[in-house]
Amino acid sequence: MFASIEQLSEKLEAAKYVADPVTLKVIYLAAQMQKPVLAEGPPGSGKTELAKVVADAANTNIERLQCYEGINEEKAIGKFDESLQRLYLNTQGNALPASWASLRRDLHTLEFFQEGPLVRALLYETPCVLLIDEIDKVSEQFEAELLEILSDWQISIPKIGTIRAKSKPFVVLTSNEVRRIGDPLRRRSLYLRFEHPTIERETKILEKRTAGTDGELNTHLAGFAHALRGYTLEKPPSIAEMLDLAEALRILDTHAISADLRDVLLPLIAKTENDRKRLMLRDGFESLVYDTQQYSRHLDQNETQEREPVCAERRRY
Ligand SMILES: Nc1ncnc2c1ncn2[C@@H]1O[C@H](COP(=O)(O)OP(=O)(O)OP(=O)(O)O)[C@@H](O)[C@H]1O
Ligand SMILES: [Mg+2]
Repeated sequence: MFASIEQLSEKLEAAKYVADPVTLKVIYLAAQMQKPVLAEGPPGSGKTELAKVVADAANTNIERLQCYEGINEEKAIGKFDESLQRLYLNTQGNALPASWASLRRDLHTLEFFQEGPLVRALLYETPCVLLIDEIDKVSEQFEAELLEILSDWQISIPKIGTIRAKSKPFVVLTSNEVRRIGDPLRRRSLYLRFEHPTIERETKILEKRTAGTDGELNTHLAGFAHALRGYTLEKPPSIAEMLDLAEALRILDTHAISADLRDVLLPLIAKTENDRKRLMLRDGFESLVYDTQQYSRHLDQNETQEREPVCAERRRY
């Protein structure tokens, strides 16, 4: 899929994805070893996006199975197209096979099957990306059924038989850890841990993913994100929310977060009633703005490591 880590890095960069060196190596290795990647971490940290940009980078298609509680085989694998089968019977009267066994066989081929994403992913001549998104939402039984495709690259369909992969897809499994994914699936995958980014990486993401915001504001926003994540919120803001915030500031033609913007910005950063109340506390928001300025200053002084919030002791709960 990728000739080298450098090539992968360039292509992800072109797809506007800011990957750290470990992510690059894991993706490269997974592609070379033909192993699934299990991407686990908080919401909005770039797990799904990674699968999309890998498909972009490899110039291939993405097949996506969006998981949810109660998902069934029909959704994942597919089902027979009964109306097409009926049409065939009604229109091919004279050409139909004489024996019941051959008629049955004819009707149960992939030609009469509406393929779900798992089957489609196996039928590409060259590898596609198969995204199995939010796998932590499915039952253990459904998870176990995925093992066949992920280890043997084949899938068994009742009445049709076993479909073998024409090419092995690059599989990305994502999880927000609602339920613990079982060990058999972990064993078969390369594990990629997602965390909230460092200020430096988030600044780069903001640079790549926002239009018309200035560099200083991006650093400022990344510092603000770091301060918010150190504020022990129920739902700390993700990269996605910081991108929304950047967009909101652009619309408001504002170039820095200040305490007087609190009420306007709260709907973008506080997503639960408790978090909203916490950020409404007297001095709460001001202390975040103060922390943000400290982080930006530290960054200017070329400190590159992830830091603890500087003013943790100043917080009021
Ligand atoms: N490393 C990154 N480089 C560029 N953009 C990123 C990166 N990480 C996240 N983003 C941005 O954040 C958005 C949200 O990411 P994504 O949807 O992949 O999160 P997620 O981890 O799948 O979240 P959830 O668990 O809620 O589905 C993306 O659409 C993208 O704009
Ligand atoms: Mg996602």
